[in-house]
Amino acid sequence: MKPEEFKDKVVIVTGGSRGLGRAIAVGFATEGAKVVVASRKIDTCRAVVDVIEDAGGEAWACAAHMGETDDLDALIEGTYQRFGQVDVLINNAGINIAFGPLADVAAEAFDKMVAVNLKGPWYLASRLAQRMSEQGGGCVINVLSVAALSTPAYSGIYAATKAGLKALTEVMAQEWAKWNIRVNALAPGSYYSDLTYGAIEAIPGYGEGMVQAALIPRIAETEEILNPIFYLASESFTTGITLVADGGLMAKR
Ligand SMILES: NC(=O)c1ccc[n+]([C@@H]2O[C@H](COP(=O)([O-])OP(=O)(O)OC[C@H]3O[C@@H](n4cnc5c(N)ncnc54)[C@H](OP(=O)(O)O)[C@@H]3O)[C@@H](O)[C@H]2O)c1
Repeated sequence: MKPEEFKDKVVIVTGGSRGLGRAIAVGFATEGAKVVVASRKIDTCRAVVDVIEDAGGEAWACAAHMGETDDLDALIEGTYQRFGQVDVLINNAGINIAFGPLADVAAEAFDKMVAVNLKGPWYLASRLAQRMSEQGGGCVINVLSVAALSTPAYSGIYAATKAGLKALTEVMAQEWAKWNIRVNALAPGSYYSDLTYGAIEAIPGYGEGMVQAALIPRIAETEEILNPIFYLASESFTTGITLVADGGLMAKR
């Protein structure tokens, strides 16, 4: 990225309170961006904002459930009121509450995963795209998972929602290029976060399996996923792709 490329850009990060989203929020703020930290819990969002402000940055905390369209409308309105524009949306919030065989998954868990991992990112990006078009363009990054490409057993619903978001990424890129909006996806492999600790607890052998599956035989640190995000947010000729940051998991298959 160019020096000061993100200075004064406005970046919304969903799921910005923990894990990768927190690293993204702090990372963009360190580069001079104005960051909106969104998740369900306002207190954890405010804690990230405090860290950013203590370091001299600018940020705003907003409680928004990805499954609630009213919350997402309020997130958009609040951001425009506070910062007047949105340059980058990072649809990072995601859940996996349906580990295990497909035959055992409850319908309620399926619905919730679709709402948070698929419908919410579509709704937020779609409503924002119209506003971004009026300001001359922008950039959307949808965080998938390598599961969208490798479709592993015992994470079927997760893989399906992420594969669905990959499809939507490609359609968004086609439909919004005329508005100067680039849309890309990032498919990370395993890095340390609450989600990964949950998988390690729920699926016997998950941690060892992820290490063995990759060419770089370890689970990544959260910050290692940040550079690919910076690349996708930087000005470039890139749109409609899924960038993979998986330690070589797909290449080893
Ligand atoms: N960890 C990995 O190895 C890995 C690998 C590939 C892809 N990913 C993807 O990367 C993204 C970030 O994952 P992570 O591991 O960093 O997750 P994480 O540590 O579990 O954090 C999840 C974030 O999403 C928020 N969130 C959860 N449910 C939400 C909802 N209904 N509405 C709004 N926000 C919600 C959480 O905050 P609240 O609890 O306050 O809502 C939190 O900020 C996800 O899309 C995940 O699928 C992760």
